[in-house]
Amino acid sequence: MEQKIKKLISEVESFTASVKDDVEAFRLKYLSKKGIIPSLFGEMKNVSPEERKNFGLLVNDLKNKAEEKLNSFRELLESSEGQKEVPDLSLPGEPKSLGARHPISIVRRRILEIFSHIGFTVEYGPEIEDDWHNFTALNFPENHPARDMQDTFFIRSGESSKDDIALRTHTSSVQVRIMETQKPPIRILAPGRVYRNEAISARAHCFFHQVEGLYVDEGVSFADLKQTLMYFAKEMFDADTKIRLRPSYFPFTEPSAEMDVSCNICSGKGCNVCKYTGWLEILGCGMVDPNVLENCKIDSKKYTGFAFGMGIERIAMLKYNINDLRLFSENDVRFLKQFISA
Ligand code: DAH
Repeated sequence: MEQKIKKLISEVESFTASVKDDVEAFRLKYLSKKGIIPSLFGEMKNVSPEERKNFGLLVNDLKNKAEEKLNSFRELLESSEGQKEVPDLSLPGEPKSLGARHPISIVRRRILEIFSHIGFTVEYGPEIEDDWHNFTALNFPENHPARDMQDTFFIRSGESSKDDIALRTHTSSVQVRIMETQKPPIRILAPGRVYRNEAISARAHCFFHQVEGLYVDEGVSFADLKQTLMYFAKEMFDADTKIRLRPSYFPFTEPSAEMDVSCNICSGKGCNVCKYTGWLEILGCGMVDPNVLENCKIDSKKYTGFAFGMGIERIAMLKYNINDLRLFSENDVRFLKQFISA
């Protein structure tokens, strides 16, 4: 009997299984109610009292080994089943749809690129600005009506306007910050968001985007400004886009001008975007007023400069035939996904 049990123990120990059915067969053979081990326990009563202890120990050993074996097989099978759930790597992946760049970003990048070819670098300034940088240094006298040209969002109204803090109304404030900290030659662009307290419509918004340009050096002339803007317009728009410069007024430039491009939404016939004029104003420009240079501690006898500030939304409207400024900030995916960056 002892021999028989020892043989069973070594059988159990050397048993192997590769599929579920083998494991079940093992369980049925050894551990199920009618299996070998319970029947051995049943035989206990027939064993002589002297042998009974040893017999009991051996059958117990057999039972433990069989249970251990069964458990280890079950674990093995479970983990290999887990492995079977690893996805089939040869299947095509789930498509991830890529977002598109915002049209304002596309146009801003294009503007910066065009000017980078003629040596302009990029600078940034804060959107919350003090009175000095947004107005006073730019030759807006205190209480001058020119300040009303820019309906300002004030963050803090000081006792006198000198202490006002506001959301910048234009990127021209960056001109001042750069001229205060850099020495000519200065040739920079300053892109950014600007804010105005205006009623929202197809043509106006309370925030929009500008790119400011500034070039200060010895002997910079209006002819340089004009050539630079012509170069820009040719690069930015089709060859048949018409441009025109109109005399204008800004406190920080003298002389000042505005540049229009022909409205390609209505091909110059007149529509609500161009207010039926056939032209869209895209930028203001001029020769930096000597007062502004002096405010920034730049010798206006030695240096001259030109500056310009353009609206990115306006340019994007022209490029992509968009007739409502509000579309840019409504985040409608059907609108946004149409623009593929160049
Ligand atoms: N800052 C002006 C505006 O927002 C635009 C402008 C006009 C910028 C003339 C300039 C400039 O640099 O020279 O309306």
